[in-house]
Amino acid sequence: MTIRFELNGAPQALEVDGGLRALDVLREELGLTGTKEGCGVGECGACTIVVDGLAVNACLMPAAQLDGTAVLTVEGLETLPLGRALQRAFAKQGAVQCGFCTPGMLLSAYALLLRERNPSEEAIRTALAGNLCRCTGYAQIVAAVQAAARDQR
Ligand code: FES
Ligand code: FES
Repeated sequence: MTIRFELNGAPQALEVDGGLRALDVLREELGLTGTKEGCGVGECGACTIVVDGLAVNACLMPAAQLDGTAVLTVEGLETLPLGRALQRAFAKQGAVQCGFCTPGMLLSAYALLLRERNPSEEAIRTALAGNLCRCTGYAQIVAAVQAAARDQR
């Protein structure tokens, strides 16, 4: 089947096998390897992308459902003011963890700040609850999201 969608601001049209996941299309067909596969079953958040403004697990999304959507991956963050604000804040606050969990954390934070300009700490922790990392206490990550939110106001 042919799917057409917007990816990081650019139109895409490609033939995909109906059985593929959005994660496969991004990584294998389009070479955007910033979106990671951790658990593959919707539990770790490493594959988080933003679809029509909402954080989504790309490992659970059939590729066919990309059709007609606007998708943001970690590669597109630097083209957007809010994306750049998050990148800066994560770097400044020491919130960058490993390359597996950080892309998903950034995108979950992005989706949160799209809908809430001034989220509470609880809202930030809730938004990041699906992004697992056993290596952090999340304090710097929460601080980075708060800093990015301040930057946007
Ligand atoms: S790889 Fe998708 S949630 Fe873990
Ligand atoms: S999973 Fe990335 S630093 Fe812990």
